[in-house]
Amino acid sequence: MEVQRLDRFIASQLSEISRSAARELIRRGEVSVNGAAERSPEKKISPEADEITLFGKPVGYKKHLYIMLNKPSGVVCSTRDGLSETVLNLLPEGLRRKGLFPAGRLDKDTVGFVLITDDGELAHRILSPKSHVEKTYFVKLRDPCPPSVIDVFSGGMTLDGERLLPARLEILGERECRLTLREGKYHQIKRMFSSFENEVVYLKRTSIAGVELDPDLFEGQARELTAEEVSALETR
Ligand code: URA
Repeated sequence: MEVQRLDRFIASQLSEISRSAARELIRRGEVSVNGAAERSPEKKISPEADEITLFGKPVGYKKHLYIMLNKPSGVVCSTRDGLSETVLNLLPEGLRRKGLFPAGRLDKDTVGFVLITDDGELAHRILSPKSHVEKTYFVKLRDPCPPSVIDVFSGGMTLDGERLLPARLEILGERECRLTLREGKYHQIKRMFSSFENEVVYLKRTSIAGVELDPDLFEGQARELTAEEVSALETR
């Protein structure tokens, strides 16, 4: 079973508390382990077996966080950006934690589902070009999309000399469609349509590996994934 220092545990579970603040709180006797105040920050605890409280309230243990964010336009998918707001800045206090990062990138003007986690292994499996995880997008186009494009996309088109994996295109309206990709190349959807002299005027990611963006999340809002959603991502 995993063991770790008490100060590290407190700081890792509560984003607003730095390691040095955790040490101070422990020395002041504000932290208890299994009902008894523990004043040594270096005390080894088992996050799974021990009950830790701060100010008398349990510090719930989560090894990893998995967050669904409905990304608005104008925000970048990175952990830091000197100029623009990042997806991490949008997270509410209760969903902040050190080590979080967006698992995959959407363009600054693309909206919709961004997965934010601190689970590097799961992120790697979702992002690895070898895993071919399906991602679905709702697309609005400047011009109507002829049905012949469906076969071109599903046949695995060539884009700037590079062969793409087959993509599933469903035409929803004159200028609206749903596109499912199993890879994520730079500006891929915009480039796919621009090769037909068309232009993407609105792009929204609606699902990742079969997990749908929650329709109750407004742009800019986030929530934790349910256990079922996490296992859908893990087992895909
Ligand atoms: N394809 C794009 O062109 N942009 C995105 O953000 C995602 C897919």
